[in-house]
Amino acid sequence: MAENRDETGRLAPPRANGTAWDRTGGNAPPRHIAIIMDGNGRWAAKRGLPRTAGHKAGAETFRKIATYCKDIGVKYLTVYAFSTENWKRSETEVSAIMALLKKYLLEAVDTMERDHIRLHFFGDMTPIAPELRRLARETDEITEHLSKDDFQANVCLNYGGRDEILRAARRFAADCAEGRQKPEDLDEAVFSGYLDSAGIPDPELIIRPSGEQRLSNFLLWQSAYAEFYYTDTLWPDFDEAELDRAIAAYQSRDRRFGGVKK
Ligand code: IPE
Ligand code: IPE
Ligand code: MG
Repeated sequence: MAENRDETGRLAPPRANGTAWDRTGGNAPPRHIAIIMDGNGRWAAKRGLPRTAGHKAGAETFRKIATYCKDIGVKYLTVYAFSTENWKRSETEVSAIMALLKKYLLEAVDTMERDHIRLHFFGDMTPIAPELRRLARETDEITEHLSKDDFQANVCLNYGGRDEILRAARRFAADCAEGRQKPEDLDEAVFSGYLDSAGIPDPELIIRPSGEQRLSNFLLWQSAYAEFYYTDTLWPDFDEAELDRAIAAYQSRDRRFGGVKK
């Protein structure tokens, strides 16, 4: 248990001036939060700036929110950075996003050990530029040396929920063909072990800023019983107070998982 949880497993208070979420009742705070980091382009357009300026601001917001999640004792933060559909965008925009990822990974290589931040990637890395892949391998290695209890950020890069399920199914089929698995042994736990999120609990809370209310191919399998929080705030404007509001909303939800309330 992270040291910033109290004896009941609840998160430590967010900040001296932050009282947004409830520590006394409702659901325990989420251990895994997932965010669709949307609205960078509109944020830039509102300011007469190129879309790439929105991505740059969005990358700053990611740094800020990841730090905050770590500080308040969230164990996993999964962010949607680039989808399997985002290749449809202009070459300029795609390269700007990849350059920002590279910048972040270069920083991460120097700081993750010191800050106890584990980094993990979800998605098919095959079409990603070799330099970025090499950096991702480097951060994977650093992650291996960090404690399993440390905060972990999962970055979804060339990620699609359907693609993840297909890649998992292909690997399971290959294991069957080679006699390592039997089709009749496949259950939810075994299949989960083939996903990019293997070993990571499902997110309890999925946040989508920017006013859109859709999944856009994010965590299709893992979102089965997630609570959703939508806000009109554009991702570059998203802040700690907004995350507090999302957690408070989550804590007040009645989670029934198909059962009935006693
Ligand atoms: C999210 O912001 C970042 C990526 C999808 C890479 P958008 O770029 O989708 O921003 P909007 O939706 O156009 O405002
Ligand atoms: C989802 O946002 C993908 C990311 C945030 C990386 P999009 O902006 O690509 O989604 P749509 O096109 O609005 O569904
Ligand atoms: Mg968008």
